[in-house]
Amino acid sequence: MYDIDVLQQRISKGLADLDIPNKPANLYDPVRYMLQIGGKRIRPLLTLMAADLFSATDIDAALPAAIAVELFHNFSLVHDDIMDNAPLRRGHRTVHEKWNSNVGILSGDNLLIMAYAQLAKCPPDNLPAILETFNTMATQVCEGQQLDMDFERVATVSVDEYLHMIRLKTSVLLGAALKIGALLAGAKEADAQLIYDFGVYVGIAFQLQDDILDVYGDPERFGKQRGGDILANKKTYLLVKALELAEPTTRSALDNWLADHSNPSEKISGVTAIYDALDVRMEVEAAKQLHINKAYTALDAITVESSRRIPLRQLANTLLDRGQ
Ligand code: IPE
Ligand code: IPE
Ligand code: MG
Ligand code: MG
Ligand code: MG
Repeated sequence: MYDIDVLQQRISKGLADLDIPNKPANLYDPVRYMLQIGGKRIRPLLTLMAADLFSATDIDAALPAAIAVELFHNFSLVHDDIMDNAPLRRGHRTVHEKWNSNVGILSGDNLLIMAYAQLAKCPPDNLPAILETFNTMATQVCEGQQLDMDFERVATVSVDEYLHMIRLKTSVLLGAALKIGALLAGAKEADAQLIYDFGVYVGIAFQLQDDILDVYGDPERFGKQRGGDILANKKTYLLVKALELAEPTTRSALDNWLADHSNPSEKISGVTAIYDALDVRMEVEAAKQLHINKAYTALDAITVESSRRIPLRQLANTLLDRGQ
């Protein structure tokens, strides 16, 4: 099997080799910027690792699909930052802050088109199944993003509704990244489904962790504004649980904060104090662990020699431990 370092180098080279025009600068500079400010590159790594798990004869044949997945992710982040009014991404100014929202919309669109240009390079016999997986995922991400925004404006959201929303906005991309790698390596349908399920469960745990880090993470390491979800009234797992657990006095204090947009830093500390008092962080950690366990159950059911699963297990472990 390949070393993770080798796969990461292929991904860096694949991204560096993208032929991005110079003009108009306000279209292409943000594309270059977004790809240069970093990111963990987890999703393309998942594609290559899945191909490797199922002994792909030619790992390089999976590279365009891996790059497509990362381009799609970056497209979704540029648009997400506009929707979430986020000033920071990967420790740098977001595209719409550095330029403006119109530039963010159009350069984000371009990243999406670039993703499809890469997908078109997949081997022709695999292409229909890969497109089907990719398009289903892309539609679901849009559905999840819409639900995420709709939820800002409703009073309460159930745990099930929340899990449904994050499955769509975040998890299916990790699942599809893996499944596409499996398809390229000729995995059996049942195994392709299991690795997809593994990715979806890892993705749910990952988004639960992202919700925690938004409040409790070190902004230096996390690269995003602390408390952004609180300011946007996002129905994160923390807020969903706080609304569920609060007794009437705390509930009315929380409702007051949700209605108050006058002082951002006071709102962040006020809501955080309520989360602390209700110990909701513990609830999120428990839900995260539950989904990590489900992920490993799916991974262990894949019909490959058990030692081949180790790198993916280690990657999930590292990913789901970050910043804490
Ligand atoms: C950010 O994903 C979006 C979420 C699903 C929380 P990552 O944390 O993987 O973003 P980068 O690519 O490493 O910046
Ligand atoms: C991530 O949701 C989902 C997508 C970007 C599609 P978030 O809005 O929580 O992601 P961050 O925290 O901005 O990275
Ligand atoms: Mg966001
Ligand atoms: Mg968002
Ligand atoms: Mg977030």
